[in-house]
Amino acid sequence: MLNLVLFGPPGAGKGTQADFLIQKFNLIHISTGELLRSLIAAETPLGIIAKSYIDEGNLAPDYIVIEMINTIANEKRDANGFVFDGFPRTVEQAIALDSLLNENNTPVSGMLYLDVPNAELIQRLNNRSETSGRADDRSVAVIENRLKTYHEKTDPLRDYYNRQNKYHRIDGTGTVNEIAERLFTTVSAL
Ligand code: AP5
Ligand code: MG
Repeated sequence: MLNLVLFGPPGAGKGTQADFLIQKFNLIHISTGELLRSLIAAETPLGIIAKSYIDEGNLAPDYIVIEMINTIANEKRDANGFVFDGFPRTVEQAIALDSLLNENNTPVSGMLYLDVPNAELIQRLNNRSETSGRADDRSVAVIENRLKTYHEKTDPLRDYYNRQNKYHRIDGTGTVNEIAERLFTTVSAL
């Protein structure tokens, strides 16, 4: 089983590159951001709680996200593997993912960090805000808070995976095809 953690700040290209990886390696895409947005759209009790965090650019509570991941991973036990996009985002989530995957003897194969300079992230998110319809793209203040939250809470996970020798930095600049090729080379060598 190939389990990839596709990692990086808001706007790094996680969703864009996940599409290439799932096609190439026949994997299932799990984006916690997309799952949360569908809970919000369906106005479920968890969605209503999550909305107040997401709309401000803060992280949703760990218990909501961990519950979602456990449910999907168990439903898709016979998958070839997963691309986790935007998850884990805290040490608590990373520990929960390790314990879930270790139960099935299918640990994280590698963590792929898409490295993109801050100025380019802001430019990409500002461009996307014109068309995405995402509540958290709507204002510069919220975009800035997402980036700040990433640096405070999520970026330290690079060390977490580095300590497990699973950390791979990928240059996240250039064309989407160039970046996909870099990812394919790294994943093929895992
Ligand atoms: P999430 O949905 O994960 O959003 P994000 O991390 O803020 O990242 P984005 O989806 O905005 O960017 P991306 O890296 O996917 O890049 P994309 O491919 O779209 O999370 C949203 C919110 O949900 C969080 O803030 C949090 O509140 C909550 N949440 C989610 N997961 C959570 C968790 N685990 N725990 C707690 N809370 C959680 O690309 C961005 C743009 O750039 C696009 O317009 C794209 O077309 C463009 N682009 C892509 N590649 C290139 C390129 N090479 N050159 C130029 N433009 C490019
Ligand atoms: Mg995304």
